[in-house]
Amino acid sequence: MTRIRLVEHAAGAPGMRWFGMGPDLKPSHGLLKLHRLLHKHAFWAQQRDTSELKKMLAGSNVVISLWRGKRLVGFGRATSDGIYRAVLWDVVVAGDLQGHGLGRQVIEALLIAPGIRNVERVYLMTTNSRGFYEQMGFERANNQQLLLLNLKNN
Ligand SMILES: CC(C)(COP(=O)(O)OP(=O)(O)OC[C@H]1O[C@@H](n2cnc3c(N)ncnc32)[C@H](O)[C@@H]1OP(=O)(O)O)[C@@H](O)C(=O)NCCC(=O)NCCS
Repeated sequence: MTRIRLVEHAAGAPGMRWFGMGPDLKPSHGLLKLHRLLHKHAFWAQQRDTSELKKMLAGSNVVISLWRGKRLVGFGRATSDGIYRAVLWDVVVAGDLQGHGLGRQVIEALLIAPGIRNVERVYLMTTNSRGFYEQMGFERANNQQLLLLNLKNN
């Protein structure tokens, strides 16, 4: 497989937001490519437009992207207070490259990022990929319940 490049963006991913930056700090239409990746491979994030994605990135403490040449093939992000709690969001790998260890690379990079590595506990929510996260050491929380308040329709 062509070499995969992992980019650990600065908090809020300003380069990706404003210049679409990818590997080597080069403008790579990163925001548009993220929009496409989520639209195609993340069923919960298909409706997000690029102006919303900019806000999403701005509010993310840790942002990881994976590139194969000029193609954005993986993504994951986290919000974190840096000391007690972090939550992983929007972990996704392009469909044709799933099952080759790229998802694991995204999770490992998120967990060792400075904004996360010192927190007490990392949370995540998943619909279909519990087995994947269990492989990474996450455990189902039987003593906790997930509560939701929907403020928008999607
Ligand atoms: C879930 C996802 C990110 C996993 O990425 P991936 O690159 O396919 O996963 P990897 O190849 O790194 O898998 C790592 C390990 O987890 C296992 N695994 C992957 N998906 C799994 C699943 N759904 N159930 C159980 N185990 C799984 C792999 O077999 C592998 O195990 P191994 O190291 O023993 O071989 C990817 O399939 C994806 O983007 N899916 C669509 C979007 C999605 O549902 N994201 C999760 C949001 S919560």
